[in-house]
Amino acid sequence: MTNVYVAAIEAIGEAMIRNKEYLTDLDAAIGDADHGINMVRGFEAVRGKLGALPPEADLATVLKTVAMTLISTVGGASGPLYGTAFLRAAAVAQGKSAVDGATAVSLFMAAVNGIKERGKATRGEKTMLDALEPAYEAFAAGVGDNKPLPDCLELACAAAERGIEYTKTIVATKGRASYLGERSLGHQDPGATSSYILLKALNDFCRRRPAEEA
Ligand SMILES: Nc1ncnc2c1ncn2[C@@H]1O[C@H](COP(=O)(O)OP(=O)(O)O)[C@@H](O)[C@H]1O
Ligand SMILES: [Mg+2]
Repeated sequence: MTNVYVAAIEAIGEAMIRNKEYLTDLDAAIGDADHGINMVRGFEAVRGKLGALPPEADLATVLKTVAMTLISTVGGASGPLYGTAFLRAAAVAQGKSAVDGATAVSLFMAAVNGIKERGKATRGEKTMLDALEPAYEAFAAGVGDNKPLPDCLELACAAAERGIEYTKTIVATKGRASYLGERSLGHQDPGATSSYILLKALNDFCRRRPAEEA
């Protein structure tokens, strides 16, 4: 039997591969043209490491493996940032055998806070946080309203997509794009875009695969 957590991460990796050029093109405009390359390198290494786990590996083990692999294989800023997000989520998942709404909210919150602390950034600085933080808030609001988890993920994706649009309207004050100052205006942030792609892949995966299989 396939491990549902591994399958979900693989779906995210496939989405990064499909969007490799898109992400790299976005980074070419305001960075160093490697974001797609970084994400694909990271998630290809992740696929290899996950393949070596026992089939019964729990969520915490899967998330920790993703984290350590992204941190050790991705050279760019995004590797340690996404790696920290997965590591913090892994800590929350420790000892949990199923993901209910409250756990999912805690996982998501820990991941976003991890990125904020690691990157010393806040919302409005034209980074992945401009997609992820509103996505988290929309997700948590959905769970608070007792909506089914796939619907909450859908709300998170819509918020992340709006976050991407918002990054076009602001100047970068963190990361490589900040070197451009005002010239970063009008451009879409690559990291916010990969964050949306990640959430969208997870959402599509959950919709393909009924929750009771998890
Ligand atoms: N301090 C930070 N906090 C949050 N996200 C950041 C920070 N610095 C950069 N990023 C994100 O990382 C993305 C760039 O990733 P990538 O191109 O892989 O790394 P690098 O900038 O080192 O080449 C940016 O688009 C931005 O979203
Ligand atoms: Mg880059």
